[in-house]
Formats: sequence, structure tokens, C-alpha cells
Amino acid sequence: MKLTGEMGEFRRDPLGMLQRVAREQGDFAPIRFGLSRAVILSHPALVEEVLVTRNQWFRKNPATRRLGSLIGRGLLSSDGEAWRRQRRLTQPAFHRARVNAASEVIVDYAQRQAASWQPGDVRDVHQDMMELTLQIACRTLFGAEVAADLAVVRDATTVVGAHFLTRLTSLLFMLPDWVPTPGNRRYMRAIHQLDELVYRIIRARSTGGNDLLSTLLESDMTDVEVRDEVMTFFMAGHETTALALTWGLYLLSLHPEAAARLAEEVDLVLDGRPSTLDDVPRLVYTRAVVDETLRMYPPAYLMGRQALTDCQIGGHPVRRGTTLLMSQWLIHHDPRFFDTPWAFRPERWLDGNALPRFAYFPFGGGQRQCIGNAFAQLEAVLVLACLAQRWSLDLAPNQRIEPQALVTLRPKYGLRMVVGARHAAAVPATAP
Ligand code: HEM
Repeated sequence: MKLTGEMGEFRRDPLGMLQRVAREQGDFAPIRFGLSRAVILSHPALVEEVLVTRNQWFRKNPATRRLGSLIGRGLLSSDGEAWRRQRRLTQPAFHRARVNAASEVIVDYAQRQAASWQPGDVRDVHQDMMELTLQIACRTLFGAEVAADLAVVRDATTVVGAHFLTRLTSLLFMLPDWVPTPGNRRYMRAIHQLDELVYRIIRARSTGGNDLLSTLLESDMTDVEVRDEVMTFFMAGHETTALALTWGLYLLSLHPEAAARLAEEVDLVLDGRPSTLDDVPRLVYTRAVVDETLRMYPPAYLMGRQALTDCQIGGHPVRRGTTLLMSQWLIHHDPRFFDTPWAFRPERWLDGNALPRFAYFPFGGGQRQCIGNAFAQLEAVLVLACLAQRWSLDLAPNQRIEPQALVTLRPKYGLRMVVGARHAAAVPATAP
């Protein structure tokens, strides 16, 4: 028996480990993860119990709370009464009307991005999408321009990502971040750089505004609480959406027929002008591409909860302290719920498919469902439409693609793509 249970395998091949365990042990699969007990749940009904019907028995798992050294006790990592208070305070910033009001900013930044590309360029699209979504999030949520800070953010988030990769999958999991190992020092320096930026964003705005930051500043939160919340939204508010766009562009490059259908829809609906909120309901295929991308490459591919008490899930006993793992990656590729689950078929979303609840849950669910889901969906549709209107993107020669599953699901070697001016679809369609 291995000392660390499934941890070594998880470090080497997280997605493979999840699949192997589910295949061998079924929908309720107990494993050992380092010193702790965990169970992989891979049936939607079990996920529903944990996230909805029995959610009072659970809190965020230790791995999520471990992110606390970066995001403090903001909305994503807090629990109980503190979480409820934060959610109540931040929710209005995500009401439909407020989200919709962001569409002009989204299109404006997306157009600038599209205009900065030239035919023949080879771009790291993952990097471009990270920078685009970060600027959109900072502008809409905090009224801040961060164009001059993108390089610092890129380097700091790379260090933070690498730190979590080694930490979350090691027996040193609980080693505090302030112990001055070389890795910890790099990590603390990166946090410090992000902190400086976050505090600058907060200081730049002490009064006025009608966005998330003004709501936070007008509340009774302490400075540290505001910092934690801004850092949470800074991190949670851009990377996942950037990944949805990145994987979407990758999948479209593999499926020229889908890319052509998308281009056709965009030309028909927008007729060459920039998109607006009113166009969104008619961009149905674009939306289906986003939905299908979130199914195949869910940026949040694994969620965890820890049992606060001895309990039962699906009739199985669960001991207090056990971590329950629920994987979008597993369930979204399960042939019991999706025909040909490994095939990219946006069409499957066009004629309303009757899925069991939690067979598809890219944004989680229950009371802790992603607060930014409507924002992310609107942003992904508008950005994709804007890029498709102008460019077609092909995978760069020799670009290796491998999903790297860490906190999120990223392309391990980036995603370099060759920018090409739109061919057939750029010419107005004429009757044969
Ligand atoms: C495609 C893009 C996105 C995906 C796939 C995604 C996914 C998720 C998931 C799965 C959760 C639940 C985690 C859990 O219950 O353990 C979550 C929570 C959260 N997300 Fe997102 N998210 C996205 C975009 C965004 C955006 C744009 C924002 C902010 C503007 C955001 C902010 C948050 C926050 C603050 C939480 C914690 C909510 C709470 O616990 O009350 N997310 N997200």
C-alpha cells in the first residue's frame, strides 16, 4: 500500500487518476489522499446531495481553504455566517441588469484585442485571453485600468500556480507559507506584488462609482476584508473565463465545420457591426459553442467539500472530516449522460437537451454556485463573436496540447495559434 494513497498518481496525472478510480470503484469511490480520507463522487444525484439537499453538513475542503494565503477569507474560501454576509453584500453587483451593463465594456476591450492582431501573427491565445479577461474584470468590477500591470500579473500568477501545483499534491500540504523555503519566498514575493496592485486599485477609488468595489468600500468591511474580496474577484473573475475562451478557440480550430457555422451566424446577426447586448439572444450557435466547451474542458474541473459531521451520502456512510470530491471532468464525459461524450458537438445544446440536474455543472451549484456565471457566459459569447467576426485561428505547427489539471484546467504548453484573416465568410454571402 502506498504511503500517500492516490496522491502520487494525482500529482502525475490528475485526470487519469479520477477516471481510473471512478472506473474501478464506481460512483462512490473512497480513496486516501496523503493523510486524509476522500471519496470521489461521480453521479449527479450524489453531487446534488452534497451541494444542495445536504449542504449544511459540509464546508469548503482544506485545499480550497489552503488558497487562503492568497485570497484570504473572501467569498470563495470562507464559510458559514462570514460567507453569507459576503454573498449578500456582493450579490447585487451580479444582478442581471448590472451584468448586462458590462456588455459595452466587454465588446470594447474585445475589439481592441482583435484589432491588435495582424494576419500571420502567431499569438499565445491563452495569454491574450488572460490579459483580456483580466482587463474586463478590473474595469467592470473595480473601475480600474490595468493595461500597464499585465506583465507583473502574468509573472506573479505563474509563480502562484506553480506553488499550488507542488503544494496541493505533497505531504508538505500543511507547511505554512511563511516558512522561508526558496519556493515559499518566491510565492510570498508574488503575493506581495499582487497585493501592491490590489491596494493601488482600492486606493484609486475611495468614493463614488456604482460597481463591486464601491459596494465593498461603502460597507462596514475592514481594509483587510476589502483586500481579500478584491483579490478573490481579481483571481476568480478572469482566469476561468479566459480558459473557456482558450479551449473554445482550440476546439474550433480542430473543427472547421463548427468554426464556419459560427462565422456564418456572426455575419448574419451582426452584419459587420460591433455586437451589443441585444444581439446575444440571437447568437445561439455561439452560445452552444461556449456551453460545449465548458462541458469538454471545464475550467473548474474538480470541487471539494469536507464533512462537518458523520453522515450519509447516497446511503453510504461518510466520516466527519472526509473530503468529497466532485469532478466536472468525469461527469461531463460520462456516456450515461452524454452521447459520444468525447466528441465536440455544439449542436447537442441547440434543441434543449433533458439532462439530469448536475450532469452538467461547470459553475458548481446550490447556494455556492459561481456568482459570476451570467457575467462569464455573456463575456464568453461576446468575445468569441468579436474574434470570429474578424479572424480565423489555426493551431501553430508543433503546438503540443495537454490539459494540465491544477486549480483550473489549463493548456500545459500554452496555446499558440496562427492568426488568419477570415476567408470565405468575410465575403458577403451570395446566392449560388
Ligand atoms: C467560465 C468561467 C467560470 C467558471 C467555469 C467558474 C466556475 C466556478 C465554480 C465551479 C464555482 C463553485 C466552486 C465551489 O462551489 O466550490 C465558482 C465560484 C465562484 N466564482 Fe466562478 N467561474 C467562472 C467565472 C467567474 C467570474 C467571471 C467571476 C467573477 C466576476 C467568478 C467568481 C466566483 C466567486 C466569487 C465564487 C465563489 C462563490 C461563493 O462561494 O459564494 N467566477 N466559480
